[in-house]
Amino acid sequence: ASPNAFQRATETALYVRSALPDILQNPKVAIVCGSGLGGLAQAIEPEPKIDLSYSIIPNFPQSTVQGHEGKFVFGLIGPQKLPVALLVGRAHFYEGHTMDLVTFATRVCKVMGVETMIVTNAAGGLNQDYAVGDIVCLNDHLNLAGLVGIHPLRGPNIDDFGVRFPPLSDAYDLDLRRRAHKAWKKLGFDKQKRRLHEGVYAFVAGPTYETRAECRMLRGFGADVVGMSTVPEIVVARHSGISVLAFSLVTNIAVLPAGPRGDDAEIHAMDKVELDKHLSQGKANHEEVLQAGKEAANDMQALVKQILCDIHAP
Ligand code: 6GU
Repeated sequence: ASPNAFQRATETALYVRSALPDILQNPKVAIVCGSGLGGLAQAIEPEPKIDLSYSIIPNFPQSTVQGHEGKFVFGLIGPQKLPVALLVGRAHFYEGHTMDLVTFATRVCKVMGVETMIVTNAAGGLNQDYAVGDIVCLNDHLNLAGLVGIHPLRGPNIDDFGVRFPPLSDAYDLDLRRRAHKAWKKLGFDKQKRRLHEGVYAFVAGPTYETRAECRMLRGFGADVVGMSTVPEIVVARHSGISVLAFSLVTNIAVLPAGPRGDDAEIHAMDKVELDKHLSQGKANHEEVLQAGKEAANDMQALVKQILCDIHAP
């Protein structure tokens, strides 16, 4: 029989550990860095620090998207020198990877003894109260792909990780969220410039951005942000008992600001210049997403670092 995900993750963990000094063998926290958020790697102490390109790690998925280059970084962070694992770049379902591969790194983290995972991503804002550059601490999700059967836990349950029917009602750890808000206050960022919200993330398979009708639907379902990652990793993390904290960086506003439907007579009456202006307001593009990521990355990095400083303090 071919090895299951637990056996493959164990093999990969063994390989990774063989590349790490004693002090980095047991990372307590893993941080998944989303699009343009890999700058977190600079918050790690320069020594000891080990970079492992995904391309040399056995069983790891190979990334295919511009701006998503992949490496596993191990090091110490904060004054208490907490050993952490950073996943810079992740595998997405839309790249053609199976859900098994999308969530494989999470399982390697579990086998290596990770207890807490901080997941970040770039997402589209659906809540009209959000601005580009705001950060959303996730307190729940809509696993839209999962609900229709594209689910990382489909198939024989791997008892080594967790139970057949894991609950997700407490997936987003309240204590960690409290710490996040406390850390944000402590950092004292200008509220005019950037706010920290709590909200619901809708996971879609991608790779297309949403139509206007889909945005209205997701909003009606109660989603505050929408994106193409994070939820599979969180589901697998929770299955195996890892505590989760997740942040979305709002890189664009997914919803057209004007008109409840945005496709009515008003639009037919527009000339070309007016129409271009109107449509560009609600049109997502990858460059915009990467640019907003760059500008907010430093604040997000500071937030995660601040949380880590408190995380294993009493
Ligand atoms: Cl608008 N939609 C999705 N699905 N993912 C995104 C996004 C939008 N913006 C950044 N990532």
